[in-house]
Amino acid sequence: MSIARSPTVPKSSGSCARSVARRGCIAGTVSSAGFNFLVQYRQTGPVHITDNQLAKALGAWRKPDVALARALADAVGDAALDGRLRVGSRLPAERRTAAALGVSRGTVIAALGILRDEGWVGTRRGSASTLRLPPEATTRIATFSASGEGAAIDLRRAVPAAPHTTYQQALLRATERSGPILAESGETGPGLPELRSLIADRYTAEGLATRPEQVLITSGTRSALALLSAHLLPRVVAVEIPTYFDPLAGFRATGTRLAGCRVTTDGWDLDQLDDAFRIAAGGMAYLVPDFQNPTGALMPVAARRTVARLAERHRVTVVADETMRDLDLRDTPAPLQRIPRSVLIGSAAKTIWAGLRVGWIRGTAALIGELARHPMCEPLSAAPTQQLVATELLRDLEPVLRDRRAALRRQRDHLSGLLDGDDRWRFTVPQGGLALWLHLTTMRADLVVTRARAYGLELSPGPSFAADATHSHHLRLPYTPPIHTLDRVATALDQACSDH
Ligand SMILES: Cc1ncc(COP(=O)(O)O)c(C=O)c1O
Repeated sequence: MSIARSPTVPKSSGSCARSVARRGCIAGTVSSAGFNFLVQYRQTGPVHITDNQLAKALGAWRKPDVALARALADAVGDAALDGRLRVGSRLPAERRTAAALGVSRGTVIAALGILRDEGWVGTRRGSASTLRLPPEATTRIATFSASGEGAAIDLRRAVPAAPHTTYQQALLRATERSGPILAESGETGPGLPELRSLIADRYTAEGLATRPEQVLITSGTRSALALLSAHLLPRVVAVEIPTYFDPLAGFRATGTRLAGCRVTTDGWDLDQLDDAFRIAAGGMAYLVPDFQNPTGALMPVAARRTVARLAERHRVTVVADETMRDLDLRDTPAPLQRIPRSVLIGSAAKTIWAGLRVGWIRGTAALIGELARHPMCEPLSAAPTQQLVATELLRDLEPVLRDRRAALRRQRDHLSGLLDGDDRWRFTVPQGGLALWLHLTTMRADLVVTRARAYGLELSPGPSFAADATHSHHLRLPYTPPIHTLDRVATALDQACSDH
């Protein structure tokens, strides 16, 4: 049975939508070369895109002054890039495509020729054309600007700039005391003892007693997840929909299947989580309970207990990504609870700087010992000199966090103020994290993203965050740049969403 799905599943519009959403709790088989993947629903074989689905995914694809075949090829490529058309799935036959799109078969053949030449489709003799991503499309074509000071404001990533002076001072101190480390082999195993101790002490101070043997240093959370995946070898990983996109690509790259659970700004759908954990039984879950990326949601204490219960019932190892935890922007922050028995991963990427490339895993001493003996531990760990810089910064992190929170609070409130009261979008002011999660009331996010690019603003559309390519009417809007840049962001968004 094939599941016909619209790109967006309304949040709660009746039992039909709900049942699709529940079946949409996907278990996708994802095989990969780079980012290319093939998603299979559990009930089906490889996905065949129907002519109706193709027409719906492409929307209004014709462009004035652009040849039909070129415009069609561009539209297919754009739809593959933002997930409306699944890479790895088969396109409908030429004749059916022509009829569904209201063009001649010759136009479809010409468009397929362009797509084939540019690497967007592969066609084996006698079989349907399969959608692919060309290698250029999977590599970053622009640097990610944290300040938005360049000509274009690149907010595809939510990355704050480093605290310059503090960082440079830490670099100097780290250089001064790097002698003993430079005399060693350069391999740190589970990490520099001093850094592991500092991180363990932070957990203990928060009420989670932790010894240094329970901490292992990695080069960020993606490396932490890669190491945990390489060790646990989960067949299926339960993930939130939407979620931080890089881990999704990481799981796909290793052929891991994904089981999805919806999360909105209002919180987690625990029925779906139960389904997802059942599908992932014996495997792993990747969750972001604190100021979730991209929704900003904060998991309630009761939900955390439920997650732990379900994890136990289905034998799922819960990996909680706490990268956003310290970006608590509430007026009166209360201590945050944790999902009992979860493996915790953390990173300095958002609190200090993504370029530091230091993260960590906190688990039982037994798990950390096993991870430390894994052959991928060393290649996924942070360079010793970077660990030394992290040690210098973590030793006195509170002033850095205080400044960062104050700046983010100002920026969040400024951007929210600029966008508030406009009926082209809805959003909830997040209690923490780095971005607004806009629900566009009428326009599709991919269209807004394309138009915004013309006004010098790069954004990530909703489907990039969704393992099932839904959320086509959502847009993540980071408030990481300074206030004067946020003014430009709001202007560009207004232009992109205006009638043309
Ligand atoms: C939830 C979450 N975790 C982690 C990271 C950073 O990952 P890494 O430490 O690998 O740079 C991000 C960055 O966007 C994120 O949103």
